[in-house]
Amino acid sequence: MTAISVDNLCKTFRGRKALNDVSLKIEPGEMVALIGASGSGKSTLIRHVAGLVTSDTGASRIVVNGRIMQENGRLSGNAQHLRREIGVIFQQFNLVGRLSVMSNVLVGLLSRLPGWRGNLGLFGRDHKLTAMRALTRVGINEMALQRASTLSGGQQQRAAIARTLVQGAQLILADEPIASLDPASAKRVMETLSSINEQDGITVVVSLHQVEYARRFCPRTIALADGKIAFDGPSEHLTTEFLRGIYGEASEELILPDAPVRGTRPAPVPDLREPVFAGA
Ligand SMILES: Nc1ncnc2c1ncn2[C@@H]1O[C@H](COP(=O)(O)OP(=O)(O)OP(=O)(O)O)[C@@H](O)[C@H]1O
Ligand SMILES: [Mg+2]
Repeated sequence: MTAISVDNLCKTFRGRKALNDVSLKIEPGEMVALIGASGSGKSTLIRHVAGLVTSDTGASRIVVNGRIMQENGRLSGNAQHLRREIGVIFQQFNLVGRLSVMSNVLVGLLSRLPGWRGNLGLFGRDHKLTAMRALTRVGINEMALQRASTLSGGQQQRAAIARTLVQGAQLILADEPIASLDPASAKRVMETLSSINEQDGITVVVSLHQVEYARRFCPRTIALADGKIAFDGPSEHLTTEFLRGIYGEASEELILPDAPVRGTRPAPVPDLREPVFAGA
């Protein structure tokens, strides 16, 4: 069963196509990077797969875990149920700052509990143990009782990942989870995503601005340009020259500062068996 199947997805905002006939398939257990310059459609694609927005009417279809999420511009009857199986992570962490880290992670359980228990005060010891295990998994168990607002950006993002683990998500859609982090924190967050992908078999789709992280952590990359898929294949093919071929001048936005400045000699093609990783 395919984890994500997108067919002929189009989305128009104010007369302009943000997604233009996008089709792709992602198998369970894959870790896929979604790259593209600003405005290329990464967030729009993620939001469609998550069932947060609907496509243009037409022959489009998005199937998640074998069930239709939306079709021809309408959410299916499964959408609400399917959303609970998807962990969505945003650049801005989306934690409640005044609540403890533990409480924020317990929120992930709400979708799994019957309605009457949907209150943070009613979580039992087992639930808290589950949350602690998830926090240990992402390496911030010692911060469980701190207010979320007192954590660094990278720690908050790992708390957000712990919340998706507690939610029981088999699919994580992360929209630029490292965009506002320093290189060391960004690396930790990518390592955390990579570890839950490898060890728990959770499918991860992560949008990234910097292609070095795609090359290092994601075997496959889908590159969007102007709402279309410009490349879908092994991340190791994404050399500086290749990106320049797809994006032209805009490729500089996707390459870390070790890329050559315009007009200078091109950088050597990195040895892809040992990818160069700035900030590691
Ligand atoms: N709600 C909206 N209303 C109008 N236009 C939108 C809306 N959401 C996205 N767009 C437009 O759709 C296009 C794709 O936007 P999207 O946010 O998906 O790009 P992105 O690749 O995520 O960019 P970034 O790297 O800056 O996050 C852009 O031209 C954007 O202005
Ligand atoms: Mg975006």
